[in-house]
Amino acid sequence: MKSHTIILLYIVAECVCDQINRHEYSPTSDVYNQSKVHVKQDDRHKPEQQCPDAEDIAPCTCTYNSVSNAIDLNCSAVESEEQLKQIFKADFPFKNFREFRIEDNNNIKVLEAAVFNGISFEKINIEHNHLEVIELQALNSCYETATVISLKSNNITSFPFDELSQFSKLSYLYIRENSLSMIPADAFHGLTALEYLDISGNHADIVGTFQDLPNLRYIELSSNALTTIPAHFSETGSSNLSYIGLAGNSIVSVEPGAFDIVDGLNIDMWYNSLSTLEEATWRPNLEAGGTLRTANNPLVCGCDIAWLFGEDQLLGQVDMRATCTDGEYLHNLDPSIFDNC
Ligand SMILES: *[C@@H]1O[C@H](CO)[C@@H](O)[C@H](O)[C@H]1NC(C)=O
Ligand SMILES: *[C@@H]1O[C@H](CO)[C@@H](O)[C@H](O)[C@H]1NC(C)=O
Ligand SMILES: *[C@@H]1O[C@H](CO)[C@@H](O)[C@H](O)[C@H]1NC(C)=O
Ligand SMILES: *[C@@H]1O[C@H](CO)[C@@H](O)[C@H](O)[C@H]1NC(C)=O
Repeated sequence: MKSHTIILLYIVAECVCDQINRHEYSPTSDVYNQSKVHVKQDDRHKPEQQCPDAEDIAPCTCTYNSVSNAIDLNCSAVESEEQLKQIFKADFPFKNFREFRIEDNNNIKVLEAAVFNGISFEKINIEHNHLEVIELQALNSCYETATVISLKSNNITSFPFDELSQFSKLSYLYIRENSLSMIPADAFHGLTALEYLDISGNHADIVGTFQDLPNLRYIELSSNALTTIPAHFSETGSSNLSYIGLAGNSIVSVEPGAFDIVDGLNIDMWYNSLSTLEEATWRPNLEAGGTLRTANNPLVCGCDIAWLFGEDQLLGQVDMRATCTDGEYLHNLDPSIFDNC
């Protein structure tokens, strides 16, 4: 009975993560459709007047959405940093926008300090460009408004991590698929609104620990250069944490006390270099109702993993695809081989 419940939990956790993965940031996705620009009643009678004159901001385009009463700015066609700067010197009758967008643009390499010249945005989508540098205070007009910052698929080598704690409402931060060489985990401390963090695919050293993130649900760190996971690595204090993605690093060891202990927390260790699953490290997470994915690790499968085959059947919370170095599935091992351990 218990193992059924556990397997079910595991499936549920997997589904949640799959959904999150499918929910890859997309502007139409519901989870991002939370906050609206609230316009004073007086400003509403001529909505189109909330946008600057089209010719003043070309080739950016401003659109007003009457349903959500919000204005968005799309600067995907911008030709240079200098042009972007000039555009924000235009007369903006309304300074609080919902969304800023630059997509599939090869012209902007640097996002310069104070580039928005006081205009604020809730959602910043600068995806699939060749951006390399985000200068200090580039997004300073959005400290109190930004709920989403997505810089996915650029070529960012320099990001102002020290400034992150200023973004008091930041709930989604995506810096995946960039070229950061070092990511200081301590820079995320105290982002109390943060729910989704994705810094995967940078091949970066991740230094420090993830702490004091009370609303975190999802943290994706896959395809980076982690080799050891220290104690307190993820001590977010969030009871909503459901996923920690560490796949595709080069992790050889995980110290006890590395992760939050949360029911339903799915830890993905696929494609790493673990040769064992130490009881002191993993038992607390599995006992609390968490799950572990370990396929594609060179597990030796000696007496060191006998604890998974005990009466509490914790193996049920390890993924079905986990194998030993000889290719044998953990789930197919005969428990009696551990009798003499
Ligand atoms: C966003 O929210 C508004 C109102 O809550 C709703 O009418 C609209 O359909 C939503 N848009 C999307 C893309 O879900
Ligand atoms: C933004 O503008 C670019 C070209 O300037 C266009 O191709 C793209 O579809 C626009 N995106 C949205 C979401 O309006
Ligand atoms: C990213 O930057 C590096 C060096 O700065 C360069 O070699 C590489 O071609 C760039 N990649 C893209 C996709 O622009
Ligand atoms: C956790 O999630 C629930 C439900 O989505 C939400 O109400 C709550 O504020 C979140 N945060 C914490 C710390 O529980």
